Amino acid sequence: MTTSDQNRSTALVTGASRGFGRAIASALHAEGAQVVAVARHAEPLSSLRDELGDRLTPVVADVADPVVAGALIEQHRPDTLVLNAGAAPLLRPLQHQTWDTFSRTWDVDVRQAFHWIREALLLPLRPGSTVVTLSSGAAVAGSPLSGGYAGAKATVRFITDYAADESQRAGLGIRFISLLPRLTPATDLGSEAVAGYAHRDGLDVREFLDRFGPTLTPEDVGKTTVGLVTSDEQPPGPYLLTAAGLTPLG
Ligand SMILES: NC(=O)c1ccc[n+]([C@@H]2O[C@H](COP(=O)([O-])OP(=O)(O)OC[C@H]3O[C@@H](n4cnc5c(N)ncnc54)[C@H](OP(=O)(O)O)[C@@H]3O)[C@@H](O)[C@H]2O)c1
Repeated sequence: MTTSDQNRSTALVTGASRGFGRAIASALHAEGAQVVAVARHAEPLSSLRDELGDRLTPVVADVADPVVAGALIEQHRPDTLVLNAGAAPLLRPLQHQTWDTFSRTWDVDVRQAFHWIREALLLPLRPGSTVVTLSSGAAVAGSPLSGGYAGAKATVRFITDYAADESQRAGLGIRFISLLPRLTPATDLGSEAVAGYAHRDGLDVREFLDRFGPTLTPEDVGKTTVGLVTSDEQPPGPYLLTAAGLTPLG
């Protein structure tokens, strides 16, 4: 899909009320797409609608609900589907987690990937459409304070890879891409995690962040997502995302 095609397209972004999702929704909207923005809380979605205008449709819903996935995919038939919503993990060492806190991200992030991608393949979405999932750099590096987060995000990446394979086998022409952003303090979820890991290492936040170089911003994530969606050159697959840009993972 080229940039000009975006003018006629529909994008559905989950977790669009703040952080990466809000920036992704705004960037797709700036390219001319009709944007369906999904999150559980109405007020931040209304403020996004006030900011962007009537090409933005807010939907208050829980993305982990399979009925929500089926209904919204059928209703909107998006050309671009960005599965960005994610639960913030409880930041505690392993032995201070319970099974319920450990598995929270499985109940939201993995369920979302499973239900929505399944619906995208079954409908199916139109040939030329793109599905982007938000995995995490933690899927490669681990995240010892975040319970099951790293494993959940690795599974999101695998589900996306499996779907790319199914799309290719069935000749569906749907591209499936997973993004693995590096940890950044620029969002609610990221700033809590950065503070937790800095404290664990006995560093202040600035010292901790200096280890990693330039900080990834939500605007970087929004711009990169538009680039992935509008470029037919970009092959499906997983990509690590840092402030320096994208690195394809094998
Ligand atoms: N920030 C980082 O450093 C980082 C790094 C790598 C990967 N990621 C991933 O990137 C994605 C976005 O992260 P972020 O940092 O932007 O997080 P964030 O600021 O906490 O935003 C999360 C978004 O997801 C929505 N959400 C959460 N649970 C939901 C549910 N059950 N149903 C519908 N919406 C839900 C939230 O809105 P409501 O609360 O209103 O529902 C919000 O819009 C996540 O998948 C995260 O794991 C983040």
